Amino acid sequence: MANDAEALYRETTPHSRVLHEKAVTVMPGGTTRTTTYFDPYPLYIERGRGCRVWDADGTERIDMLGNYTAMILGHAHPKVVEAIQKQAARGTGFAAANAIEVQLATLLCERVPSLDAVRFCNSGTEATMFAMRLARAFTGRPKIARIEGGYHGTHDYAEVSTHPALSEAGPPDAPIARPDSAGTPDWVLHQTVVLPFNNPNAAEAIIRREAGELAAVILEPVIGAGGVIAATVEFLERLRSTTQELGILLIFDEVISLRLGPGGAQQMYGVTPDLTTMGKIIGGGLPVAAFGGRADVMGLLDPRREGNLAQGGTYNGNPLGMAAGLATMTELTPDVYEDLNRKGARVAELLREVFASHQVPVQINSAGSMFALHFTDRPVVDYRGVATANKDKTRELFLGLVNHGVLMAPRGMGALSTAMDEQDIQEFIDAVETVVAGQRPRWEQ
Ligand SMILES: Cc1ncc(COP(=O)(O)O)c(C=O)c1O
Repeated sequence: MANDAEALYRETTPHSRVLHEKAVTVMPGGTTRTTTYFDPYPLYIERGRGCRVWDADGTERIDMLGNYTAMILGHAHPKVVEAIQKQAARGTGFAAANAIEVQLATLLCERVPSLDAVRFCNSGTEATMFAMRLARAFTGRPKIARIEGGYHGTHDYAEVSTHPALSEAGPPDAPIARPDSAGTPDWVLHQTVVLPFNNPNAAEAIIRREAGELAAVILEPVIGAGGVIAATVEFLERLRSTTQELGILLIFDEVISLRLGPGGAQQMYGVTPDLTTMGKIIGGGLPVAAFGGRADVMGLLDPRREGNLAQGGTYNGNPLGMAAGLATMTELTPDVYEDLNRKGARVAELLREVFASHQVPVQINSAGSMFALHFTDRPVVDYRGVATANKDKTRELFLGLVNHGVLMAPRGMGALSTAMDEQDIQEFIDAVETVVAGQRPRWEQ
């Protein structure tokens, strides 16, 4: 079946194959982003509109991923296109501040509870890098604590224990810092403290043990790329009270979870961190990210201040990204979030029904407009649960869906856009039904 799916993929995507053959001569593996690659070769997308994308062969698919959750309004939203066109004609980057960044910063500070002030940058990676550096500068301590299986981008301090081999990761309640990438410096492992997700007692004990050297605890309140796993309220509250007591900064990485509501996950949980990192939706499809938080901490970046923390970035706050971001965030009223989350809950419910009707054990983790499938019969509440689920089935489902008109993440993650209506959702569910029905004989073996 899997080979059949691969054969069908090859047969129906000849232009992507030819592009890939050219691409491998100039880019390692033929892509410039590891996550866009999948076997036997990646899909090359030519254009998108609303919740649909068209590949190099002109084949239309439902985009159930939206550039890994970034495209919350879908592709080429008229208001966003208009804002980009207008700004492009007025210039796209200056060695100066601009009025649009003030507007976007104001909007974010008004909506997200923890934000007294923000600074823009160009990727979630930069946002977490600066937030961690700021925390080290503010506290004078060197170490960062993070969650096993959480994802914070690709700088050195971020590339630890995102997806460690279980044989090397230590006990579940005392995980060991493992490098995610070749080239991750050894010193980073010594400066990183790894916490188990959703285990407040174990996490608190580790934080207390390391407190003298800990600058910050960073986490996604809802783990996104690592499998859409929501923290329990108790876990977040315990991290908040423990860090507050010990003078450690709490950083919420809301690069993905900001799509859950106007004030992000922190508003929904009622837990306010010291710093927040954002990205994806706030750039309206362009490379924009931000970090922000408490006025006294952010104040370290003030250039009027002696010994300030400098934040370079040729494209920080560039007016093109700011215009796209502002147009997008303006569209995202509380009602829009609510409607989108309602659709997300409906998708999760329909997915559960499909798999149950075929007696295929799967966990549908969902939060707002995001979901992830894990092929296991046990609830997935942390990285250990993700790591022990059946990845072959996820890949088979993914490729099957590509062949049946749906683009999702190869790791089984999806995100809805406001451009989707009931019919799009039903089309997606029908595709899942077809693929699961076809795979069932194999999955039963
Ligand atoms: C929670 C989180 N933080 C940081 C990042 C890194 O963002 P970027 O890919 O823009 O560097 C991501 C990317 O998916 C993310 O999900």
